[in-house]
Amino acid sequence: PAGNDFEAEDATIVQGVVAANHTGFSGRGFVDYTNVAGSYVEWTVNGPGAADLVIRYANGTTVNRPMDIAVNGTTVAANMAFNSTGTWDQWQTATVHATLTSGPNKIRATATTANGGPNVDKLSVSNTDSESPSPP
Ligand code: GCU
Repeated sequence: PAGNDFEAEDATIVQGVVAANHTGFSGRGFVDYTNVAGSYVEWTVNGPGAADLVIRYANGTTVNRPMDIAVNGTTVAANMAFNSTGTWDQWQTATVHATLTSGPNKIRATATTANGGPNVDKLSVSNTDSESPSPP
């Protein structure tokens, strides 16, 4: 299936900063969420299609950093787990399946606890049907 990578540092960032003070990220850096509930990263991805939304992240603490994943304002995964990856230099992925509509889709990952989100490197979108997602 076709795939596309969308760097977090190129997305809309609310209550977070672009950082590069750890290793192993793609692109220019990653988003360091402010340690507050409600901080988010929002990507714009063109549809349509059924898609796997793969979020690459690091969590150097021992505590889950859950986030709500929403597509066009509708939560598709509430309090999705972003568990410890061991250190801030070690990255893992968390995947949620969603259906994208035709044209631009807003994919938002919002921290739900006062710890904020994990560090987020990128979103990879793999369409699971015939259409390929593309940058806006
Ligand atoms: C550390 C780490 C940051 C991380 C932060 C956090 O400061 O260096 O990359 O974002 O912890 O707790 O969120």
